[in-house]
Amino acid sequence: MKLFLDTANITEIEQAQAMGVLDGVTTNPTLLAKEGRDPVQVVQEICEILEGPVNAEVISTDCEGMLKEARQWAKLSENIVVKIPMTREGMKAVKKLSEEEIPTNVTLVFSPSQALIAAKAGAAYVSPFVGRLDDRSEDGMQLAAQIIQIFNNYGFGTEVLVASVRHPMHVVEAALMGADIATMPYAVFEKLFEHPLTDLGLQQFLADWGKLKR
Ligand code: G3P
Repeated sequence: MKLFLDTANITEIEQAQAMGVLDGVTTNPTLLAKEGRDPVQVVQEICEILEGPVNAEVISTDCEGMLKEARQWAKLSENIVVKIPMTREGMKAVKKLSEEEIPTNVTLVFSPSQALIAAKAGAAYVSPFVGRLDDRSEDGMQLAAQIIQIFNNYGFGTEVLVASVRHPMHVVEAALMGADIATMPYAVFEKLFEHPLTDLGLQQFLADWGKLKR
């Protein structure tokens, strides 16, 4: 399974990249706004750090506007994947962009029927927002599982990108069910490395080695 960072923060991306296991980055308007500087410049810098997919989202709500923005994002780098919201206008744009070979990630997916429509429109990725469903006492990972099953049933090439990840168990469950990608905040990425028994075990090994008379 591919691991993406869900951030527009350059320091976080550089730190994760240095670990050697970062496959891509997702941003959204909220994450880019948080950085407080030119979003195009930020996305450009991310594309220079990574070889993998870098997701940048449109903010238009009509098909023509989305197409214009998507083509602009795509000009920035070969890494760009354009995030398009799961709306009727969005699906018209996805269809057109897939004909132009501009890869799209259909975002704000909260139901299996939405994912089916996105795949049929030609999306390269769909993003079920699992954490936001969990926040409403719904089962986000069940949605991811249903989408994987639907795509497998019909051989859709659309990749399932588990998004709105809140904790490492979302990542583990995504991997167990065969999701293609999980995208997560840097804090969750860091936690994937950790276990207290690893730290204790290492301390013990080093202490025992220190006692050895050489
Ligand atoms: O970037 C899309 C998604 O991962 C957002 O997550 O934490 O705002 O629900 P969140």
